Amino acid sequence: MFSNLRSLIFKLDPETAHGLAIKSLKFNFVPNVLDKNKNSHLFKTKLFEKEIENPIGMAAGFDKNAEVYNSLFKLGFGFVEVGTVTPLKQYGNPKPRVFRLVEDEALINRLGFNNLGAKNIVDRISSNKQIGLLGINIGPNKDTNDRLRDYVECLKTFHEFADYITINISSPNTEELRNFHDQEKLNSLLNIINSEKTKLNSKIPIVVKVSPDIKDQEIPKISDVLLSNNIKAVILSNTSDSTRDKLSDIQKHQKGGLSGKPIEEKSTILINKFYKTLGNKIKIIGVGGVDSGISAYNKFLAGASYVQLYTGMVYRGPNIVNLIKKELKELLIRDGVKHYSEIIGKKTTS
Ligand SMILES: Cc1cc2nc3c(=O)[nH]c(=O)nc-3n(C[C@H](O)[C@H](O)[C@H](O)COP(=O)(O)O)c2cc1C
Repeated sequence: MFSNLRSLIFKLDPETAHGLAIKSLKFNFVPNVLDKNKNSHLFKTKLFEKEIENPIGMAAGFDKNAEVYNSLFKLGFGFVEVGTVTPLKQYGNPKPRVFRLVEDEALINRLGFNNLGAKNIVDRISSNKQIGLLGINIGPNKDTNDRLRDYVECLKTFHEFADYITINISSPNTEELRNFHDQEKLNSLLNIINSEKTKLNSKIPIVVKVSPDIKDQEIPKISDVLLSNNIKAVILSNTSDSTRDKLSDIQKHQKGGLSGKPIEEKSTILINKFYKTLGNKIKIIGVGGVDSGISAYNKFLAGASYVQLYTGMVYRGPNIVNLIKKELKELLIRDGVKHYSEIIGKKTTS
């Protein structure tokens, strides 16, 4: 059914279409899908000590302003990440700023952290209790003169309302944000976050979201910093500001972060490299081109314990979690696997 609707939706500019999707989810037009795999023992797991129905999450960027997280849980997502949220409301970059690369099953976005600001967003969350595991992804305002203070502000605002906080250092659309991948800078940032947590007497799990465009030599350095700062999970990865060579769509040279199919392999390789360094000490949430059972399966094999997606929902529609679970179940049964976690990290390339 979605394939018929898709051609109509794709006639709209991507940001308008997204607005429409948010509106319909907000007013609870959640498709009543028959999910034969609801509560399947194959997928039940824990994230940060809490039970979740499955390891498939909604990635940051879809529900930037915490409008529809409960509808996303109803669509079957095992966890949802809201944001990126900055301390103050900001418009982001001028439009158009999201591009659909249909031939490549991809998007390019240069939104630039458009959001309503921490105060508005925390008000929403506190008056609409989440029915599933909710992460809040935080970042600095574009014009701030103190990025560290911005992260701390957001931590203070959200630590009592979220199940985990993601420190976003990897959006390509906020100038020089990715400098936080530098070992010393990342260490200072995470030190400050941890001291603030101590002051707040908070046990909230901290997660770091990493760029897919880092060099191999950075992996052990970043891993050391994550380990020494008691980081609970790493999200691999954000969008890519390179990886344009093999694209066919006419929009391929738009400035911004590329997501979807063309970054699938790149993020899977990165997951595997981090997995070899981190083992089970820090959990990996694998993101990038997840849109099917096999794509999720490959992320688990590479070492991800959980996956997230965004672009896949644009191309496969709101029933995507159930489609992935159905396809994944077939693969797991084929391989005689009783729980998906048995395959985590089972394929390590050299
Ligand atoms: C339109 C759009 C907006 C996004 N906004 C954010 C964001 O605000 N913060 C963030 O950490 N990631 C953001 N992302 C990145 C996604 O969370 C995800 O890491 C990336 O798209 C790769 O996953 P995918 O291929 O399943 O889309 C955004 C992605 C898209 C497509």
